[in-house]
Amino acid sequence: MTTSTARRTARQCRLCRPSQEPNDYTLFLRRWVRSPARMGAIAPSSRHLAEAVCAPVPERGEPVVVELGAGTGPFTAEIQRRLGGRGRHLAVEIDPLLARRLRHRHPGAEVIQRDAVHLRHLLDDRGIEGADVVVSGLPWALFPTPTQHKLMDATAAVLAPAGAFTAFTYLHAVPLTPARRFRDLLADRFEEVVPSRTIWRNTPPAFVLHARRPRT
Ligand SMILES: C[S@@+](CC[C@H](N)C(=O)[O-])C[C@H]1O[C@@H](n2cnc3c(N)ncnc32)[C@H](O)[C@@H]1O
Repeated sequence: MTTSTARRTARQCRLCRPSQEPNDYTLFLRRWVRSPARMGAIAPSSRHLAEAVCAPVPERGEPVVVELGAGTGPFTAEIQRRLGGRGRHLAVEIDPLLARRLRHRHPGAEVIQRDAVHLRHLLDDRGIEGADVVVSGLPWALFPTPTQHKLMDATAAVLAPAGAFTAFTYLHAVPLTPARRFRDLLADRFEEVVPSRTIWRNTPPAFVLHARRPRT
């Protein structure tokens, strides 16, 4: 068989395989079409945003890191890289297809396909007292106020007193009421909330909110 015939055959073969897994961008977009408010974005976050969001994950010790809304896993990959096999990493993702991909791709993370509002029970079930860091990939600015409150209560219920919480917001959402409500909620629940510089190398551009010292 010539090289060009082999390439053509391989291409035809790929096209006729209906069970072939879509790439992350296609999968993410398909899940967005199904649940736009729950997905909150049409594409996974970039490596640059992942690095900024995951910065509080300590590079020493045995920390417990909880990730909310892991999606196709850009933050999961960065958390795993920073942990390098130490501590525990619980990745909570509500969507079954995304959770399945995460499990397959990141065996070092404990992937839990559940709603993040059940966080306290999820940790209790695993004998974990609290989280040192909660990294959020949730689309907070798209959630109605009662959902924001429920998820923040769930986060506060597991975060250690010296723990850190990080979330991101898209730049274009900043003036919108739900995004302002989320920032007010953070300011209400944490003693310190520090916004990062704008991460331009993300679609769309975003920035990170680093929150520390949860109020009791
Ligand atoms: C904006 S996407 C971010 C995905 C990924 N962290 C990233 O940055 O590319 C939000 C993710 O949160 C998940 N999600 C939304 N609500 C959730 C909830 N209540 N509990 C757990 N996951 C949730 C969605 O299924 C989606 O995968």
